[in-house]
Amino acid sequence: MSKCIIDSGIAAAMAGFSSPSSLGFGKVKSPVMYRVDYSDGAWQQGRAIPYQNIEIDPAAKVLHYAQEVFEGLKAYKIDAPRANFFRPLDNHDRLNFSARRMCMPEISAELFMEGISVVTALSEPLIPTETGQSLYLRPFMIGLTGALGMGPSSEYAFIVIASPSEAYHAGEMKVLIEREGCRAAVGGTGAAKTGGNYAAATQSAQRTQAMGYHQSLWLDPRKMTNIEELSGMNVFALIDGELHTPRLTPTFLKGITRDSVIQLARHKGYEVVERTIPIEELLADIKSGNCVEAFACGTAAIVSPISVIAEADGTAYELPQSDVVASELRTGLLEIQERRSEDPFGWTREVDDQFYQLALAG
Ligand code: COI
Repeated sequence: MSKCIIDSGIAAAMAGFSSPSSLGFGKVKSPVMYRVDYSDGAWQQGRAIPYQNIEIDPAAKVLHYAQEVFEGLKAYKIDAPRANFFRPLDNHDRLNFSARRMCMPEISAELFMEGISVVTALSEPLIPTETGQSLYLRPFMIGLTGALGMGPSSEYAFIVIASPSEAYHAGEMKVLIEREGCRAAVGGTGAAKTGGNYAAATQSAQRTQAMGYHQSLWLDPRKMTNIEELSGMNVFALIDGELHTPRLTPTFLKGITRDSVIQLARHKGYEVVERTIPIEELLADIKSGNCVEAFACGTAAIVSPISVIAEADGTAYELPQSDVVASELRTGLLEIQERRSEDPFGWTREVDDQFYQLALAG
């Protein structure tokens, strides 16, 4: 049984919450959060508390040396009495992978599940119920030790916040090839979900958006010849009727949606090829008509069609087939995530009843 403490201020925080008519992505915040601290070599007792600022030593490692890792996952509540998660233990595994890379302590599956479950159970009245909408959960861990010498913290906080949200990107996506910068280095932290990778991508994102595109397409940092991922999503292309996606490397993120799309597409009869994809080859395939469709995928983005891949000089490679395979896979994935169809993979998981009991008792 979870020993999570429910703060007495939660009921007032919930009562004071009002949801705006348009949700967007990540803008509206649930008035509750979860926090558990690590000190003396162990995780302490978790607490559900009203959403609030974090008091932090100005010398904390997270502020100077970016000792931070995070995850993104969703709780769905479409035509169902109880919310459900999608592959939450894969997020837990990846959080611990990222934590190891950043010299941070691992967290148990019990505490990770406690954090996301108690926030979801308490936020239940705010979870939007239309297909494509969800409660986006953002678990993260930060190094708190206040000392300016380099080295890992000895104190940490693991926190879960949540946001009733729509998909991150609606409609077709225009992508700009990033030929100048790299988001991650060989031997660096590219495969970890840590804020520094996203910070490194921000300058490119600004330039991309100023030029009228939505996402930068990153190339491998060693030779800058092979495609890797978009700034916040993985990428697929339909070439000669087969789905191709970059083979995982240590320099980009092992997307859980990427893996789900691969498994779902194979289940639907598609040939899926994970391989090194040279950018010049992809562009030639689009030009010749061998590649007719491409799409992005991620937890926040779900599955979003790509309409054009372009160079900074304006040369544009238009994808003639918009949203055929992407739409089939998005629908199939959402039906499973939202528990509107059978889940042959065993991916979904209902929020454990004990957290509703805790929420009610608190
Ligand atoms: C997610 O898809 O959950 C992410 O963390 C990507 C972020 C850019 C919104």
